[in-house]
Amino acid sequence: MDERARKILDGVHDSAREEYVMILSDECEKVLKDLFERYKPQRVLEIGTAIGYSSSLMALYSDCTVDTIEKDKDRIERAKQLWKTLGVEDRIHSYEGDADEILASVVEGKTYDFVFIDGAKSAYKKQLEFLLPHIDVGGVVLCDDVLYLGLVRGEEHVVHKHRTIVRNMRAFLEYISDGRLFDSKVYDEGNGIAVVIKK
Ligand SMILES: C[S@@+](CC[C@H](N)C(=O)[O-])C[C@H]1O[C@@H](n2cnc3c(N)ncnc32)[C@H](O)[C@@H]1O
Repeated sequence: MDERARKILDGVHDSAREEYVMILSDECEKVLKDLFERYKPQRVLEIGTAIGYSSSLMALYSDCTVDTIEKDKDRIERAKQLWKTLGVEDRIHSYEGDADEILASVVEGKTYDFVFIDGAKSAYKKQLEFLLPHIDVGGVVLCDDVLYLGLVRGEEHVVHKHRTIVRNMRAFLEYISDGRLFDSKVYDEGNGIAVVIKK
């Protein structure tokens, strides 16, 4: 990535933090960079575009194409502006809608060698199960926030509003630890990061 692109992305990173727009944690960004250096993905799927920060990183780390899904129209507009500014707009395909409704049509007939699951926290397991036939053997799945507010591994009482996410995230972590389907590793850094390799 050149200096100009890094400067633009630093600005986007800082304004996202100021505006409380969720983008990947700094720790997850490091893991993402390492994975791109190691695996050099070519066909990427992202669930959760937000304002285009992580999709821009991926398009700049390798010459991949990225399909990315987001339900918030305003965020998509900002993402498109950013991709244009960075000159990566031709390689990033934006799909607007609720992933629950559009995921099947986005991935129909396609396979991916890298998937970044970063949308609705309750849906990670359901989405990975659905995506399994669309991921190459040896393909990488990165997931941010898997230890959600530190509650997923905690013993303490989980208040009602977080209960579904925590329950579903625990089921997701159990699913990815199935050694017949995946090699997986969960990092405690940031809000918890899972790296899953399909067997
Ligand atoms: C953590 S942010 C994504 C950050 C982005 N990957 C990055 O690091 O720059 C999660 C995004 O997922 C979107 N989202 C949540 N649930 C969704 C759903 N069911 N369908 C599509 N998008 C969803 C939210 O609107 C939000 O912008």
